[in-house]
Amino acid sequence: MPASLIAPHGGVLVNRIVEASKAAALRAQAATLPVITLSAKQACDLEMIAIGAFSPLTGFVGQADFESICKRTRLANGVVWPVPITLAVDDATKESLGDHRHAALKHSDGTLLGIIEVHEVYAHDKKLEIPNVFGTEDPKHPGVEAVLKEGNWCVGGPIDVLTVTPAKEPGEQFTEYRLTPDAVRNEFINRGWSTIAAFQTRNPIHRAHEYLTKCALEMTDGLLIHPLVGETKPGDIPADVRMDCYKVLIEKYYNLKRTMLSVMPAAMRYAGPKEAILHALVRKNYGITHFIVGRDHAGVGNYYGTYDAQKIFDLFKPEEIGLTILRFENTFYCKKTKGMASDKTTNSAPEDRVFLAGTKVREMLKAGQRPPEEFSRPEVADILMASSWVKG
Ligand code: ADX
Repeated sequence: MPASLIAPHGGVLVNRIVEASKAAALRAQAATLPVITLSAKQACDLEMIAIGAFSPLTGFVGQADFESICKRTRLANGVVWPVPITLAVDDATKESLGDHRHAALKHSDGTLLGIIEVHEVYAHDKKLEIPNVFGTEDPKHPGVEAVLKEGNWCVGGPIDVLTVTPAKEPGEQFTEYRLTPDAVRNEFINRGWSTIAAFQTRNPIHRAHEYLTKCALEMTDGLLIHPLVGETKPGDIPADVRMDCYKVLIEKYYNLKRTMLSVMPAAMRYAGPKEAILHALVRKNYGITHFIVGRDHAGVGNYYGTYDAQKIFDLFKPEEIGLTILRFENTFYCKKTKGMASDKTTNSAPEDRVFLAGTKVREMLKAGQRPPEEFSRPEVADILMASSWVKG
Protein backbone atom coordinates (compact mmCIF):
# COMPACT_ATOMS: atom_id res chain seq x y z
CA MET A 1 0.00 0.00 0.00
CA PRO A 2 1.44 3.40 -0.96
CA ALA A 3 2.67 5.23 2.14
CA SER A 4 1.42 8.64 1.08
CA LEU A 5 -2.27 7.74 1.20
CA ILE A 6 -4.49 7.67 4.26
CA ALA A 7 -4.28 4.48 6.38
CA PRO A 8 -7.20 2.07 6.05
CA HIS A 9 -9.72 1.88 8.89
CA GLY A 10 -8.17 -0.09 11.74
CA GLY A 11 -4.72 0.14 10.12
CA VAL A 12 -4.53 -2.83 7.75
CA LEU A 13 -6.09 -3.28 4.32
CA VAL A 14 -7.62 -6.76 4.44
CA ASN A 15 -7.46 -9.16 1.49
CA ARG A 16 -9.39 -12.42 1.84
CA ILE A 17 -9.20 -13.51 -1.81
CA VAL A 18 -7.27 -16.78 -1.87
CA GLU A 19 -4.13 -17.03 -3.96
CA ALA A 20 -4.56 -18.95 -7.22
CA SER A 21 -2.13 -21.64 -6.00
CA LYS A 22 -4.42 -22.46 -3.04
CA ALA A 23 -7.73 -22.38 -4.90
CA ALA A 24 -7.80 -26.06 -5.94
CA ALA A 25 -7.20 -27.24 -2.36
CA LEU A 26 -9.92 -24.95 -1.07
CA ARG A 27 -12.37 -26.24 -3.69
CA ALA A 28 -11.58 -29.82 -2.70
CA GLN A 29 -12.11 -28.98 0.97
CA ALA A 30 -15.38 -27.17 0.20
CA ALA A 31 -16.77 -30.29 -1.48
CA THR A 32 -16.65 -32.07 1.90
CA LEU A 33 -18.37 -29.32 3.88
CA PRO A 34 -21.91 -28.30 4.80
CA VAL A 35 -23.19 -25.47 2.62
CA ILE A 36 -24.47 -22.02 3.53
CA THR A 37 -26.29 -20.40 0.61
CA LEU A 38 -25.92 -16.64 0.82
CA SER A 39 -28.70 -14.10 0.37
CA ALA A 40 -28.07 -11.26 -2.10
CA LYS A 41 -27.14 -8.96 0.81
CA GLN A 42 -24.76 -11.55 2.29
CA ALA A 43 -23.11 -12.09 -1.10
CA CYS A 44 -22.50 -8.34 -1.31
CA ASP A 45 -21.04 -8.41 2.21
CA LEU A 46 -18.79 -11.32 1.28
CA GLU A 47 -17.36 -9.34 -1.60
CA MET A 48 -16.90 -6.21 0.55
CA ILE A 49 -15.02 -8.24 3.18
CA ALA A 50 -12.94 -10.17 0.65
CA ILE A 51 -11.66 -7.10 -1.21
CA GLY A 52 -10.86 -5.19 1.99
CA ALA A 53 -13.63 -2.60 1.65
CA PHE A 54 -14.87 -3.64 5.11
CA SER A 55 -11.37 -3.55 6.66
CA PRO A 56 -10.62 -4.30 9.46
CA LEU A 57 -13.25 -7.09 9.24
CA THR A 58 -11.80 -10.39 8.02
CA GLY A 59 -15.10 -12.24 8.12
CA PHE A 60 -18.67 -12.16 9.37
CA VAL A 61 -18.86 -10.76 12.91
CA GLY A 62 -18.94 -12.88 16.06
CA GLN A 63 -21.16 -12.26 19.07
CA ALA A 64 -18.84 -9.93 21.01
CA ASP A 65 -18.48 -7.66 17.99
CA PHE A 66 -22.20 -7.93 17.19
CA GLU A 67 -23.20 -6.76 20.67
CA SER A 68 -20.54 -4.07 20.84
CA ILE A 69 -21.50 -2.67 17.42
CA CYS A 70 -25.18 -2.54 18.36
CA LYS A 71 -24.63 -1.06 21.81
CA ARG A 72 -21.59 1.19 21.29
CA THR A 73 -21.15 1.63 17.50
CA ARG A 74 -17.74 0.01 17.95
CA LEU A 75 -16.11 -3.35 17.45
CA ALA A 76 -15.26 -5.17 20.69
CA ASN A 77 -11.71 -3.75 20.42
CA GLY A 78 -13.07 -0.19 20.43
CA VAL A 79 -12.61 0.65 16.73
CA VAL A 80 -15.64 2.56 15.40
CA TRP A 81 -17.99 0.30 13.41
CA PRO A 82 -21.69 1.10 12.94
CA VAL A 83 -23.48 -1.89 11.37
CA PRO A 84 -23.03 -5.59 12.23
CA ILE A 85 -22.01 -7.55 9.13
CA THR A 86 -23.73 -10.82 9.95
CA LEU A 87 -24.02 -14.20 8.33
CA ALA A 88 -27.53 -15.02 9.52
CA VAL A 89 -28.75 -18.58 8.89
CA ASP A 90 -32.00 -20.42 9.53
CA ASP A 91 -32.53 -23.30 11.96
CA ALA A 92 -32.04 -26.03 9.34
CA THR A 93 -28.73 -24.54 8.13
CA LYS A 94 -27.56 -24.20 11.72
CA GLU A 95 -28.37 -27.88 12.34
CA SER A 96 -26.54 -28.91 9.17
CA LEU A 97 -23.32 -27.32 10.45
CA GLY A 98 -23.11 -29.87 13.31
CA ASP A 99 -19.56 -29.89 14.68
CA HIS A 100 -17.98 -28.77 11.42
CA ARG A 101 -15.29 -26.11 11.88
CA HIS A 102 -15.75 -24.85 8.32
CA ALA A 103 -18.64 -24.35 5.88
CA ALA A 104 -18.79 -23.74 2.14
CA LEU A 105 -20.35 -20.42 1.10
CA LYS A 106 -22.40 -20.53 -2.09
CA HIS A 107 -24.19 -18.01 -4.25
CA SER A 108 -27.91 -18.64 -4.79
CA ASP A 109 -27.04 -19.84 -8.31
CA GLY A 110 -24.90 -22.63 -6.78
CA THR A 111 -21.48 -21.09 -7.47
CA LEU A 112 -18.94 -21.79 -4.74
CA LEU A 113 -17.79 -18.39 -3.44
CA GLY A 114 -15.56 -19.39 -0.55
CA ILE A 115 -15.27 -20.93 2.88
CA ILE A 116 -15.96 -19.65 6.38
CA GLU A 117 -14.00 -20.85 9.38
CA VAL A 118 -16.82 -21.30 11.88
CA HIS A 119 -15.60 -19.69 15.09
CA GLU A 120 -19.04 -19.48 16.63
CA VAL A 121 -22.75 -19.83 16.03
CA TYR A 122 -24.88 -17.51 18.16
CA ALA A 123 -28.48 -16.41 18.49
CA HIS A 124 -29.33 -13.53 16.14
CA ASP A 125 -30.49 -10.85 18.56
CA LYS A 126 -32.75 -8.89 16.23
CA LYS A 127 -34.28 -7.01 19.15
CA LEU A 128 -30.83 -5.59 19.84
CA GLU A 129 -29.83 -5.04 16.21
CA ILE A 130 -32.92 -3.45 14.70
CA PRO A 131 -33.54 -0.39 16.93
CA ASN A 132 -29.83 0.31 17.34
CA VAL A 133 -28.92 0.14 13.66
CA PHE A 134 -32.09 1.55 12.09
CA GLY A 135 -33.41 3.80 14.85
CA THR A 136 -36.86 2.29 14.29
CA GLU A 137 -38.55 -1.10 14.65
CA ASP A 138 -41.11 -0.39 11.96
CA PRO A 139 -41.33 -3.58 9.85
CA LYS A 140 -42.13 -1.42 6.81
CA HIS A 141 -38.62 0.09 6.89
CA PRO A 142 -36.79 -1.85 4.12
CA GLY A 143 -33.67 -2.47 6.23
CA VAL A 144 -35.71 -3.63 9.23
CA GLU A 145 -37.84 -5.82 6.96
CA ALA A 146 -34.69 -7.46 5.58
CA VAL A 147 -33.30 -8.25 9.05
CA LEU A 148 -36.68 -9.57 10.22
CA LYS A 149 -36.67 -12.05 7.32
CA GLU A 150 -33.17 -13.29 8.15
CA GLY A 151 -32.44 -16.47 10.09
CA ASN A 152 -32.38 -16.66 13.88
CA TRP A 153 -28.72 -17.66 14.11
CA CYS A 154 -25.49 -15.98 13.08
CA VAL A 155 -22.29 -17.68 12.02
CA GLY A 156 -19.14 -15.75 12.91
CA GLY A 157 -15.64 -16.27 11.59
CA PRO A 158 -13.07 -15.31 8.97
CA ILE A 159 -13.69 -16.09 5.31
CA ASP A 160 -11.50 -17.14 2.40
CA VAL A 161 -12.96 -16.25 -0.95
CA LEU A 162 -12.43 -17.90 -4.34
CA THR A 163 -14.61 -15.65 -6.39
CA VAL A 164 -16.84 -12.68 -5.62
CA THR A 165 -20.50 -12.64 -6.61
CA PRO A 166 -20.95 -13.96 -10.13
CA ALA A 167 -23.20 -11.77 -12.24
CA LYS A 168 -25.94 -13.40 -14.27
CA GLU A 169 -25.42 -10.94 -17.11
CA PRO A 170 -21.85 -9.88 -17.88
CA GLY A 171 -22.90 -6.22 -18.13
CA GLU A 172 -24.18 -6.23 -14.57
CA GLN A 173 -20.75 -6.73 -13.18
CA PHE A 174 -19.27 -3.41 -14.39
CA THR A 175 -15.91 -5.19 -14.45
CA GLU A 176 -14.00 -2.17 -15.72
CA TYR A 177 -15.26 -0.06 -12.81
CA ARG A 178 -15.28 -2.76 -10.11
CA LEU A 179 -11.93 -1.89 -8.58
CA THR A 180 -10.74 -3.16 -5.23
CA PRO A 181 -9.69 -0.63 -2.58
CA ASP A 182 -6.06 -1.48 -3.36
CA ALA A 183 -6.59 -0.82 -7.08
CA VAL A 184 -8.38 2.49 -6.38
CA ARG A 185 -5.50 3.53 -4.11
CA ASN A 186 -3.01 2.73 -6.85
CA GLU A 187 -5.01 4.78 -9.32
CA PHE A 188 -4.94 7.76 -6.93
CA ILE A 189 -1.15 7.43 -6.71
CA ASN A 190 -0.87 7.21 -10.51
CA ARG A 191 -2.95 10.36 -10.84
CA GLY A 192 -0.86 12.13 -8.20
CA TRP A 193 -3.84 12.81 -5.93
CA SER A 194 -3.40 12.90 -2.17
CA THR A 195 -6.67 14.57 -1.15
CA ILE A 196 -9.74 12.95 -2.63
CA ALA A 197 -13.44 13.60 -2.04
CA ALA A 198 -15.78 10.62 -2.38
CA PHE A 199 -19.42 10.72 -3.34
CA GLN A 200 -21.75 7.88 -2.36
CA THR A 201 -24.95 7.56 -4.34
CA ARG A 202 -27.73 5.10 -5.13
CA ASN A 203 -29.42 7.41 -7.61
CA PRO A 204 -28.66 8.88 -11.00
CA ILE A 205 -26.59 12.04 -10.49
CA HIS A 206 -28.97 14.98 -10.59
CA ARG A 207 -28.13 18.68 -10.50
CA ALA A 208 -28.01 18.81 -6.68
CA HIS A 209 -25.59 15.86 -6.58
CA GLU A 210 -23.50 17.47 -9.31
CA TYR A 211 -23.30 20.67 -7.28
CA LEU A 212 -22.13 18.86 -4.12
CA THR A 213 -19.47 16.90 -5.97
CA LYS A 214 -18.09 19.99 -7.72
CA CYS A 215 -18.03 22.04 -4.52
CA ALA A 216 -16.13 19.15 -2.91
CA LEU A 217 -13.68 18.96 -5.79
CA GLU A 218 -12.87 22.65 -5.32
CA MET A 219 -11.32 21.59 -2.01
CA THR A 220 -9.44 18.44 -3.07
CA ASP A 221 -7.08 17.08 -5.73
CA GLY A 222 -9.58 14.60 -7.06
CA LEU A 223 -13.17 13.36 -6.94
CA LEU A 224 -14.22 9.71 -6.66
CA ILE A 225 -17.77 9.12 -7.83
CA HIS A 226 -18.50 5.87 -6.09
CA PRO A 227 -22.04 4.59 -6.66
CA LEU A 228 -23.34 1.70 -4.64
CA VAL A 229 -24.19 -1.14 -7.05
CA GLY A 230 -25.04 -3.97 -4.64
CA GLU A 231 -28.56 -4.95 -3.62
CA THR A 232 -31.08 -2.10 -3.41
CA LYS A 233 -34.79 -2.14 -2.66
CA PRO A 234 -37.43 -2.67 -5.33
CA GLY A 235 -38.33 0.71 -6.84
CA ASP A 236 -34.77 2.09 -6.75
CA ILE A 237 -33.27 2.76 -10.16
CA PRO A 238 -31.18 -0.28 -11.19
CA ALA A 239 -27.40 0.04 -11.20
CA ASP A 240 -26.97 -0.64 -14.93
CA VAL A 241 -29.28 2.27 -15.84
CA ARG A 242 -27.49 4.49 -13.33
CA MET A 243 -24.08 3.54 -14.70
CA ASP A 244 -25.11 4.73 -18.16
CA CYS A 245 -26.15 8.04 -16.58
CA TYR A 246 -22.89 8.44 -14.62
CA LYS A 247 -20.74 7.75 -17.67
CA VAL A 248 -22.45 10.25 -19.95
CA LEU A 249 -22.65 12.90 -17.24
CA ILE A 250 -18.97 12.65 -16.30
CA GLU A 251 -17.95 12.68 -19.94
CA LYS A 252 -19.95 15.84 -20.68
CA TYR A 253 -19.99 17.83 -17.48
CA TYR A 254 -16.92 16.94 -15.37
CA ASN A 255 -13.19 17.46 -15.67
CA LEU A 256 -11.98 13.98 -16.61
CA LYS A 257 -8.50 14.73 -15.30
CA ARG A 258 -9.90 15.28 -11.82
CA THR A 259 -12.79 12.81 -11.70
CA MET A 260 -12.79 9.05 -11.35
CA LEU A 261 -15.76 6.65 -11.57
CA SER A 262 -15.63 3.33 -9.77
CA VAL A 263 -18.33 1.20 -8.12
CA MET A 264 -18.89 -0.07 -4.58
CA PRO A 265 -20.46 -3.54 -4.50
CA ALA A 266 -22.21 -3.10 -1.11
CA ALA A 267 -25.86 -3.74 -0.37
CA MET A 268 -27.97 -0.76 0.70
CA ARG A 269 -29.36 -0.97 4.24
CA TYR A 270 -31.24 2.36 4.36
CA ALA A 271 -29.92 2.84 7.90
CA GLY A 272 -29.50 6.61 7.57
CA PRO A 273 -26.99 7.94 10.14
CA LYS A 274 -25.41 4.55 10.96
CA GLU A 275 -25.03 3.77 7.29
CA ALA A 276 -23.46 7.19 6.68
CA ILE A 277 -20.66 6.16 9.06
CA LEU A 278 -20.32 2.83 7.26
CA HIS A 279 -20.21 4.56 3.87
CA ALA A 280 -17.52 6.95 5.09
CA LEU A 281 -15.29 4.30 6.72
CA VAL A 282 -15.54 2.05 3.68
CA ARG A 283 -14.44 4.91 1.44
CA LYS A 284 -11.49 5.53 3.77
CA ASN A 285 -10.44 2.00 2.92
CA TYR A 286 -10.52 3.01 -0.74
CA GLY A 287 -8.05 5.80 0.12
CA ILE A 288 -10.19 8.94 0.14
CA THR A 289 -9.74 11.83 2.60
CA HIS A 290 -13.03 13.77 2.29
CA PHE A 291 -16.53 12.30 2.33
CA ILE A 292 -19.71 14.04 1.20
CA VAL A 293 -22.76 13.82 3.47
CA GLY A 294 -25.75 15.83 2.30
CA ARG A 295 -29.34 15.75 3.39
CA ASP A 296 -30.89 12.51 4.66
CA HIS A 297 -27.88 10.43 3.59
CA ALA A 298 -28.83 6.75 3.13
CA GLY A 299 -32.30 7.56 4.37
CA VAL A 300 -35.66 6.24 3.28
CA GLY A 301 -39.17 7.58 3.87
CA ASN A 302 -39.33 9.91 6.89
CA TYR A 303 -37.41 7.82 9.38
CA TYR A 304 -34.48 10.21 9.86
CA GLY A 305 -34.05 13.93 10.39
CA THR A 306 -32.63 15.88 7.43
CA TYR A 307 -29.18 16.26 9.01
CA ASP A 308 -29.07 13.28 11.43
CA ALA A 309 -26.50 11.55 9.21
CA GLN A 310 -24.20 14.57 9.60
CA LYS A 311 -24.73 15.05 13.34
CA ILE A 312 -23.84 11.45 14.18
CA PHE A 313 -20.19 12.09 13.27
CA ASP A 314 -20.02 14.53 16.23
CA LEU A 315 -20.28 11.56 18.60
CA PHE A 316 -16.73 10.47 17.73
CA LYS A 317 -13.29 11.98 18.04
CA PRO A 318 -12.16 13.24 14.61
CA GLU A 319 -9.20 10.82 14.58
CA GLU A 320 -11.56 7.87 15.15
CA ILE A 321 -13.20 8.59 11.81
CA GLY A 322 -10.02 9.96 10.23
CA LEU A 323 -11.78 11.77 7.38
CA THR A 324 -13.02 15.27 6.68
CA ILE A 325 -16.79 15.01 6.51
CA LEU A 326 -18.11 17.52 3.98
CA ARG A 327 -21.56 18.46 5.26
CA PHE A 328 -23.92 19.94 2.72
CA GLU A 329 -27.17 21.79 3.21
CA ASN A 330 -30.27 20.73 1.35
CA THR A 331 -29.64 22.12 -2.14
CA PHE A 332 -32.09 23.10 -4.86
CA TYR A 333 -32.27 25.00 -8.13
CA CYS A 334 -32.76 28.69 -7.45
CA LYS A 335 -34.71 30.52 -10.17
CA LYS A 336 -33.66 33.89 -8.78
CA THR A 337 -29.89 33.25 -9.05
CA LYS A 338 -30.29 30.74 -11.92
CA GLY A 339 -28.13 28.07 -10.38
CA MET A 340 -27.88 25.50 -7.62
CA ALA A 341 -28.07 26.97 -4.13
CA SER A 342 -28.93 26.28 -0.52
CA ASP A 343 -30.31 28.30 2.36
CA LYS A 344 -26.72 29.34 3.00
CA THR A 345 -26.18 30.83 -0.44
CA THR A 346 -29.50 32.36 -1.49
CA ASN A 347 -32.30 34.25 0.15
CA SER A 348 -34.77 33.57 -2.65
CA ALA A 349 -38.46 33.11 -1.91
CA PRO A 350 -39.83 29.56 -1.53
CA GLU A 351 -41.59 29.78 -4.92
CA ASP A 352 -38.20 30.36 -6.59
CA ARG A 353 -36.78 27.09 -5.32
CA VAL A 354 -37.06 23.86 -7.31
CA PHE A 355 -36.74 20.91 -4.90
CA LEU A 356 -37.15 17.52 -6.49
CA ALA A 357 -36.64 14.50 -4.30
CA GLY A 358 -35.60 11.17 -5.79
CA THR A 359 -38.99 9.65 -4.97
CA LYS A 360 -40.82 12.41 -6.85
CA VAL A 361 -38.57 11.94 -9.88
CA ARG A 362 -39.09 8.19 -9.90
CA GLU A 363 -42.84 8.86 -9.89
CA MET A 364 -42.50 11.36 -12.75
CA LEU A 365 -40.43 8.94 -14.81
CA LYS A 366 -42.84 6.08 -14.23
CA ALA A 367 -45.65 8.39 -15.39
CA GLY A 368 -43.67 9.10 -18.60
CA GLN A 369 -42.81 12.69 -17.58
CA ARG A 370 -39.38 14.08 -18.32
CA PRO A 371 -37.52 15.54 -15.30
CA PRO A 372 -36.99 19.29 -15.89
CA GLU A 373 -33.55 20.75 -16.69
CA GLU A 374 -33.42 22.37 -13.28
CA PHE A 375 -33.32 18.88 -11.86
CA SER A 376 -31.55 16.68 -14.37
CA ARG A 377 -29.10 17.25 -17.23
CA PRO A 378 -30.89 16.47 -20.53
CA GLU A 379 -28.52 13.58 -21.38
CA VAL A 380 -29.36 11.92 -18.06
CA ALA A 381 -33.08 12.52 -18.55
CA ASP A 382 -32.81 10.92 -22.02
CA ILE A 383 -31.22 7.76 -20.62
CA LEU A 384 -33.75 7.49 -17.83
CA MET A 385 -36.72 8.06 -20.15
CA ALA A 386 -35.46 5.40 -22.59
CA SER A 387 -34.53 2.84 -19.92
CA SER A 388 -36.24 -0.51 -19.59
CA TRP A 389 -36.76 0.39 -15.91
CA VAL A 390 -39.12 3.22 -16.92
CA LYS A 391 -40.79 1.22 -19.68
CA GLY A 392 -41.01 -2.05 -17.74
S1 ADX B 1 -27.99 7.84 -0.69
O1 ADX B 1 -28.87 6.81 -0.17
O2 ADX B 1 -26.86 7.31 -1.44
O3 ADX B 1 -27.60 8.79 0.38
P1 ADX B 1 -28.60 9.69 -2.85
O4 ADX B 1 -27.95 8.98 -3.97
O5 ADX B 1 -29.85 10.42 -3.18
O6 ADX B 1 -28.94 8.65 -1.69
O7 ADX B 1 -27.64 10.76 -2.18
C1 ADX B 1 -26.27 10.77 -2.36
C2 ADX B 1 -25.66 11.87 -1.49
O8 ADX B 1 -26.14 13.15 -1.91
C3 ADX B 1 -25.96 11.80 0.01
O9 ADX B 1 -24.86 12.29 0.75
C4 ADX B 1 -27.15 12.74 0.15
O10 ADX B 1 -27.23 13.23 1.47
C5 ADX B 1 -26.79 13.82 -0.84
N1 ADX B 1 -27.93 14.56 -1.40
C6 ADX B 1 -28.86 14.09 -2.27
N2 ADX B 1 -29.72 15.05 -2.66
C7 ADX B 1 -29.32 16.18 -2.01
C8 ADX B 1 -29.80 17.56 -1.98
N3 ADX B 1 -30.84 17.96 -2.70
N4 ADX B 1 -29.15 18.42 -1.17
C9 ADX B 1 -28.10 18.05 -0.42
N5 ADX B 1 -27.60 16.79 -0.42
C10 ADX B 1 -28.20 15.86 -1.19
